Parts: sequence; C-alpha cells; structure tokens
Amino acid sequence: MAQRIRVGIVFGGASSEHDVSCMTAGGVSRAIDAQRFEVIGIGITPSGRWVQVAADELRDLRKQGGTLPRLSESRPTAVLLPGQAGGARVATIEGDRLTDVHDFDVAFALLHGPFGEDGTVQGLFEMLGLRYVGSGVAASANGMDKDLMKRHLAASGLPGCRFVTVTARQWSQQREQSLARIAGLGFPVFVKPARGGSSVGITKVDRVDDLEPAVLLAQKFDPKLVIEEGVANAREVEFAVLGGRGGPPRVSLPGEIVMRQAGAFYDFEAKYVSDDDAALLVPTQMDEELRQRSADVAARTFEAMGAEGLARVDLFVTADGRVLVNEINTMPGFTHISMFPSLWAVSGVGYTELISDLIDQALERPVGLR
Ligand SMILES: Nc1ncnc2c1ncn2[C@@H]1O[C@H](COP(=O)(O)OP(=O)(O)O)[C@@H](O)[C@H]1O
Ligand SMILES: [Mg+2]
Repeated sequence: MAQRIRVGIVFGGASSEHDVSCMTAGGVSRAIDAQRFEVIGIGITPSGRWVQVAADELRDLRKQGGTLPRLSESRPTAVLLPGQAGGARVATIEGDRLTDVHDFDVAFALLHGPFGEDGTVQGLFEMLGLRYVGSGVAASANGMDKDLMKRHLAASGLPGCRFVTVTARQWSQQREQSLARIAGLGFPVFVKPARGGSSVGITKVDRVDDLEPAVLLAQKFDPKLVIEEGVANAREVEFAVLGGRGGPPRVSLPGEIVMRQAGAFYDFEAKYVSDDDAALLVPTQMDEELRQRSADVAARTFEAMGAEGLARVDLFVTADGRVLVNEINTMPGFTHISMFPSLWAVSGVGYTELISDLIDQALERPVGLR
C-alpha cells in the first residue's frame, strides 16, 4: 500500500456542541476511505484541553443507549507543533518530555460554533503552516458573525432581509434610538445573538413590549445582537456547496425544512429535541427556474464570503418567488444523517467520497495567502 495520507481529526471542543462533534468524529473515521487515509485523533475536552485519541477509540465514538459520546478529562494534555511542509505534529506532554509524537499531513476540524467554526482554530492551523479542510480565517469569522455576514452579503449585492445591529453599549446607553431602529423593521422581528448557532438565544418577537426579554436572553450568548425583519410564509431552502476545485462552486440539489405548525420556526427544540416539529425534505421539489435561481444565489454566497471546501447556504424563498439569504454555515452539521451529507448523497456524492473530496481540496490548495 502506498503511504497513506495522515488526517488529523480535530473534534470535541469546549462548546455546547461537544457531544455532537464527538459523534461526528466517530462517524467520519468509520466512513473515511481507509485505503487512502490514516486517522490521527486530536480531541478537545469540555474544559478546552487538547488530548490524543487513538484511531480505534475514535471509531468507537457513537451514540450509546441514547447517550452521546464525550471526551473524559482524565487524558494527558497534548500539544500541536509545527511539522514538515504543510503538515504538523501532535504530541502528549509527560512531565518535561513530549511522547507519543505523531506527524500528520492535513487537519479536518469537526467543530461547530465559536472556537471551531469562527476562524480561531483556522488561525492556529495557519500559524503552524498546516493544511486544513474548509474555510480560512476571514471566511470562517465572517460566516460565524451574522452582523459581519449580512454586511458582506449586502455589499456583494446578495439579497437578504432587513436587519439592524445592536451592541451592548447601544442597548444600555442609546435605548430609545435602538428601539426606534428595531421598530423601523416592523413586526415580527427575530432577535439573535450575532455569533450564535443551533437557534440558541433566538426569539421571534411580535410586539414592541416583548423586545426587552428577547434582547436580555440573546445578550446572555453574545453582547452583539442582530435583529431582523421576520420573513412571513417563506420556504426554508438549504443547499450544500462544495469548493469548485478550479471551477465554480458545486451546488447540491435543494433541501427544505418544513415546520409542521404554522407560525413556528426552526428553533433548538425542533432541531435537536422533538422528532415531529419539523420535517427535512432531501431533496425538495422546486420549480426548475426557481431551483436554478436559488442554487445560483447559494453559489454566489459561497464565493462572496470567500468560503473554501464546504458550506451550507440557507435561504428563504418567499411566496412571491424572492430568494433571500438567511445564513452560511462554514462547518455545517456533518453526521451521515445531517443535511449537508444527505444533500450530497442524493446529488451523487456518498459520505466516503465526500470526505475524500474535502481532504483532496485541502491538499490541493496552497498554504498561506491564496
Ligand atoms: N428573518 C427571519 N424570518 C423568518 N424566520 C426566521 C428569520 N430568521 C430566523 N428565522 C427562523 O429561525 C431559525 C434560526 O435562525 P438562524 O438565523 O438560522 O439561526 P442559527 O444560526 O442559530 O441557525 C431559522 O431556521 C428560521 O426558522
Ligand atoms: Mg440556521
């Protein structure tokens, strides 16, 4: 067998999505093409320490009896070090020595949310001169922050809903102006933490009197808030986008989230808790002209944000056929049943092939500015 490419799977993390990330890492290591790739497990514990995880253990991470896997804090601390051109090393610290040193060629971070999807871990990889799957520092950071994302998309002429940004200082010192700016959007509005995810801290607000509790809730997650006009009766359509490998971005068939109850939105409960609040249509049926127009918006969003590797682009399609960008996720849910892999599966790219494609894209692109 030719020398296999060593893939450092970085997973876990000190975030609310730790368990989901562990489950994803298990799934990816079981599905990865073992002829071509060797897996090196690099975990981040719930307290934020880096640890090594053997490939066998990694493949064993899965849901057991309804419980999601987690990384225990009992493992010795590991560190990342610079390696050979384009690669890096991971080593375990034992007293004043480094042991269990592993070189690897490329990193695949299966982390979601702040400190994973937001450019921070990407910056660490850049500093090490390490190749990695997915978007770079700026695209990751801009994609995570709904305020920066929306300004970026608007500046690129991409359609989105009207919004205002309210910082903690504006809310405390310029309350009247802030309320007036929000009211200018009309009701309902959606109050969101700027750098949130999984719908955590988001409230749909129908009247001005209900704004304050929604703002206070969102501020628990982020001092910066984005408040958007509510888009009524829109379809929530999602596309899985892959880097074009020299050509334009590749866009999957469309998927759709259908809420079972009128007026409900895709909140945390519907995403992770309840089995019957929402249905995922993979793929969904769309009029051909509308599908093309939406897929084009998804591809332009990917390019405008400077995304690389992969991204899921979520759109609202209004009853009168307008296509608005809701958001881009530069590290979308990536278990084999998540929307992103499912959309590629029905578009002709299976899970194993998808993982290979992402790693190949990472290996093809130069390290540094590109
Ligand atoms: N402006 C809006 N109009 C209508 N529904 C919205 C709007 N913004 C968000 N939603 C609903 O709230 C959900 C979560 O919002 P989103 O911005 O996607 O947050 P997250 O980043 O946490 O996924 C969406 O999937 C959608 O159902
Ligand atoms: Mg969303």
